[in-house]
Amino acid sequence: MIHWLIQSLDDCPEIVRGDATLGWLSASEQERLAGIKFEKRRHDWLLGRWTAKNLVQRRLAESTGVASALDMIFIGADADGAPYAARYEGRGAKGKSLERLPVSLSISHSHGTAFCGLVDLSPVERSGDVEMQGGRPLPFAPRPSLGCDLERVEPREGNFLDNFFTAEEVSAARALREQDAARSEILTTAIWSGKEAALKALREGLRIDTRRIICRFDPYDVPPQAWTPFTVVVDDRLAAQFPGAWSAWWRVSDCFALTMALLEDA
Ligand SMILES: CC(C)(COP(=O)(O)OP(=O)(O)OC[C@H]1O[C@@H](n2cnc3c(N)ncnc32)[C@H](O)[C@@H]1OP(=O)(O)O)[C@@H](O)C(=O)NCCC(=O)NCCS
Repeated sequence: MIHWLIQSLDDCPEIVRGDATLGWLSASEQERLAGIKFEKRRHDWLLGRWTAKNLVQRRLAESTGVASALDMIFIGADADGAPYAARYEGRGAKGKSLERLPVSLSISHSHGTAFCGLVDLSPVERSGDVEMQGGRPLPFAPRPSLGCDLERVEPREGNFLDNFFTAEEVSAARALREQDAARSEILTTAIWSGKEAALKALREGLRIDTRRIICRFDPYDVPPQAWTPFTVVVDDRLAAQFPGAWSAWWRVSDCFALTMALLEDA
């Protein structure tokens, strides 16, 4: 089961106020924050952390019945940029041993809103606890692997479609544009978001050409407000490099398209 949460800057006004000390960050997160110079990046990073921490806190409370303080939850990034969740154990954040949590976590932020999802790792991955206990990175691409993405619906001008979409996606977006420009903007945004979600599940991001992934959406009259499946197809080389079965869902919320892509062992 995928757990998810959306938060906006209104949910955490101290981010915009620029408070010097944020009680919900751990000491090492405070250090990382001090190294982020640009205000927009600070806001994005903080809102992503705030949302991920609240999501992890809820999941921990659900699965263990124990409430963890937000500053005892650590959201880190592996060398490839993919986020992970860990928890300080024992004598508090100062005495700390950091235990990596057996979840696949994904973060996205756009225009003052953040969207995070997580899924529990399979028991096989959990048996890698020895690696996790030291807070060291898990083996590459633990399964299931989740990618989440949030994009504001807006026109994508110029060569965007030709540069980033497959021929199939370009013709789906252009065919719809002839009937209904607004619906085509939503579809175009959802296709782009779906690709980013899949690229995050692969932990590769834009290091991979977006045209190596096809996102296929069923026709719709009204953009879905509830999670609705779409199809992810990767090219043969990617399928061989990252074997597994894809599931994916999308919905719209306010002015955003949201997508989740999940890669599981086949
Ligand atoms: C993953 C990526 C596509 C997301 O970009 P985006 O759509 O602009 O931004 P989003 O807000 O949706 O997602 C950003 C989050 O993706 C996550 N992320 C970054 N790299 C990731 C990766 N390799 N795999 C999975 N998730 C990743 C991070 O959690 C990041 O948020 P944070 O830095 O605040 O923790 C992009 O960062 C990327 O391609 N990264 C890898 C390649 C790279 O590092 N390129 C450097 C510039 S070319």
